[in-house]
Amino acid sequence: MAMIIPRGPVRPLRPARRPRVRRALVLGTAGLLAAVGVTAQSGTAEAAGTLGSAAAAKGRYFGTAVSAQYLGESGYVSTLDREFSSVTPENEMKWDAVEATRGAFTFGPADRIVNHAQSRGMSVRGHTLVWHSQLPGWVAGLGAADLRSAMNNHITKVMQHYKGKVFAWDVVNEAFQDGSSGARRSSPFQDKLGNGFIEEAFRTARAADPAAELCYNDYNTDGVNAKSNAVYAMVKDFKARGVPIDCVGFQSHFNSASPVPSDYRANLQRFADLGVDVQVTELDIEGSGSAQAASYGNAVSACLAVSRCTGITVWGVTDKYSWRSGGTPLLFDGAYTKKPAYDAVLAALGGSGGGGGSGGCSVSYTRTAQWNGGFNGQVTVTAGSAPINGWTTTVTVTPPQKVSATWNGTPTWDSSGNVMTMRPGGNGHLAAGASTTFGFTVMTNGNTSAPLLGTCTAS
Ligand code: G3I
Repeated sequence: MAMIIPRGPVRPLRPARRPRVRRALVLGTAGLLAAVGVTAQSGTAEAAGTLGSAAAAKGRYFGTAVSAQYLGESGYVSTLDREFSSVTPENEMKWDAVEATRGAFTFGPADRIVNHAQSRGMSVRGHTLVWHSQLPGWVAGLGAADLRSAMNNHITKVMQHYKGKVFAWDVVNEAFQDGSSGARRSSPFQDKLGNGFIEEAFRTARAADPAAELCYNDYNTDGVNAKSNAVYAMVKDFKARGVPIDCVGFQSHFNSASPVPSDYRANLQRFADLGVDVQVTELDIEGSGSAQAASYGNAVSACLAVSRCTGITVWGVTDKYSWRSGGTPLLFDGAYTKKPAYDAVLAALGGSGGGGGSGGCSVSYTRTAQWNGGFNGQVTVTAGSAPINGWTTTVTVTPPQKVSATWNGTPTWDSSGNVMTMRPGGNGHLAAGASTTFGFTVMTNGNTSAPLLGTCTAS
């Protein structure tokens, strides 16, 4: 097909419909919206044999916490871009970061993460709106009426700023006590506004961005225990009374004193059975070697066994920047080398193991241009550790999107017109590790979702 590259003004687009979990699964909600300019972006969100692409094949996202301060480090960014399909700002969206002074909002660091994610087609989880920690002193000093007003204003302003860019928010974080009481945790919100503060926060959040998934997020709730029972009772009550809640986040910080619980899957399932999505939101597991790997594999498998477990986020890219760096709890070591835990996660996700692998190939996607009504996508096909003579991959768009042009490949289509199978335009030979690209134009027809890449098959 002749090469046609539409031109037009580059400007942000807004999503056309309410994001649901499925929308976050591949290149994600965040594939929407970004004004990336007309210059090709390096980095990718999806490639066969990566965490993100393997999770996408299972209908899930695989994310990581990200700190804006490391976005200038090439090893950090290349690992992030290659492996992950979703990000959560580790600290940059917390109250002390965005509203340190009442009414004065600072979005710069969080915006940097969101912009990075969007330009690479990654979705963004918002963390967190109402939390007792990393809370500026001025909030704790307010009287009840003022505090209510400040809480609702904070939720509203932050969510409106990120409207259409954040697919799920941890609206309230860690509101329950540890231990056997099942009681609420003391906090300025609890102590001054009473039990109703969580419900109020969720109602305010729904009004601020009706399209965002609204989550309650906590730790030590990963297995069945008094704390998770208390959260369960709250969610059940919310669902019964129509209080808007869409998902529950399970932080999943594990170590030898707090291992992956044997009833992890069952606990995720009982929450899902209440009619909410569940997400593993801050996974890290201290340890090393095969023991750590086995625990990671078990944790990921538990999520995959629950159909409403819609995604997994690990709490950082590399051990060296983990909040528990001494416990080496993540998937990449300080040199960004994949650990056995990485291999176990990829295997649990059904991934191909090795970003192309011997004799295989991998694919990655980059949006290279965007304008009102369309965007150009580019797929890079990379041979694995052996030469290949040909390759095949698929690109699936979301109706009513239509692919209006392609270049540097030979496309065929399924009957729906949504699934394009692409083969080489000419000689498909690639030396080991060598790459080629093909491109296409998508007319959005109101839907700016990024396309889904299938796996790459070499011949
Ligand atoms: O930015 C300041 C820096 O200016 C200052 O020089 C330095 C001195 O200590 O502190 C820096 O802030 C630190 C911040 O991380 C950013 O690096 C804080 O001290 C430090 O307390 C903060 O830790 C974060 C922690 O939340 C705070 O509660 C961790 O990075 C973050 O991983 C952790 O994340 C939480 C989740 O939000 C909720 N669930 C538990 C999870 C782990 O604790």
